[in-house]
Amino acid sequence: MTPVVHIVTGASSGVGALLARRLAAQGHLVAAVARSLDKLTALAAETSAESAAGRIVPFALDVADWAAAAAAVERIECELGPIAVLVNNAAVFDLKPFDEQDVPTIRRLLATNVEGTIAWTHAVVPKLKPRRTGRIVNVASVAGIHGMANQAVYCASKHAMLGFSDALTQELRPFGIAVSAICPGGIDTPLWHHAGTAGGVTYPGDLTQVMQPLEVVEQIEFLLTRPLGTVYRRVVFFPGNEWH
Ligand SMILES: NC(=O)c1ccc[n+]([C@@H]2O[C@H](COP(=O)([O-])OP(=O)(O)OC[C@H]3O[C@@H](n4cnc5c(N)ncnc54)[C@H](OP(=O)(O)O)[C@@H]3O)[C@@H](O)[C@H]2O)c1
Repeated sequence: MTPVVHIVTGASSGVGALLARRLAAQGHLVAAVARSLDKLTALAAETSAESAAGRIVPFALDVADWAAAAAAVERIECELGPIAVLVNNAAVFDLKPFDEQDVPTIRRLLATNVEGTIAWTHAVVPKLKPRRTGRIVNVASVAGIHGMANQAVYCASKHAMLGFSDALTQELRPFGIAVSAICPGGIDTPLWHHAGTAGGVTYPGDLTQVMQPLEVVEQIEFLLTRPLGTVYRRVVFFPGNEWH
């Protein structure tokens, strides 16, 4: 099988790391994007030991850096091959009353979740369009379909992501490019911290009941294998202990 180049942003942790690992195991070349070079390098090393066919290539950068996104896409096309898939998955989260969120946090949420998605898509679409094929999956959230207390800016960012995604679903359809968004509810990833662990924020409920990353990754893989002529505009799914 000829390896196909997939870009996965937010590939150093949670959903993105598992997706990158599985795509490589399926024989794909994965450009894995995140800021943590150490985590990406470890993931690439583990994966090369597990998978004979596919490969993970780390791209350590901030997704909100437009110039870095454009340069990385040129490098990917030049060194790895034609890009077939972009999964915009990188994001940051915060759970706090709006008036208690500081300006740097608000700006980081918007820059990462909104600008990061737009910057990578802006760099990739000109590569896909002349080839009249390609797939883009935007990992949004149930926070993109309604407002939730203490997540005002995160909700704003995911609503923006969905508006952007829906518009491109229609705009790029005549060019053979399938654009889909997924809107998952709670997933058990380092975005939430477990008792005794560092990082993340506390899940407002029973964390043991939320979805496992594999369920979300399988949904992305499902979208990546649909016929290009069928439109999957957005998929909403969440664990039974939530309602959206
Ligand atoms: N977990 C949930 O309950 C849940 C629910 C609905 C939707 N989602 C969405 O699912 C996606 C994956 O989240 P997750 O739960 O897997 O979270 P996670 O484990 O915290 O992973 C987030 C990823 O985004 C990367 N990232 C953050 N800021 C970045 C930046 N400026 N530039 C490049 N990469 C950046 C992180 O890597 P570095 O820190 O190394 O940069 C990390 O790889 C996100 O879009 C999230 O909004 C999550």
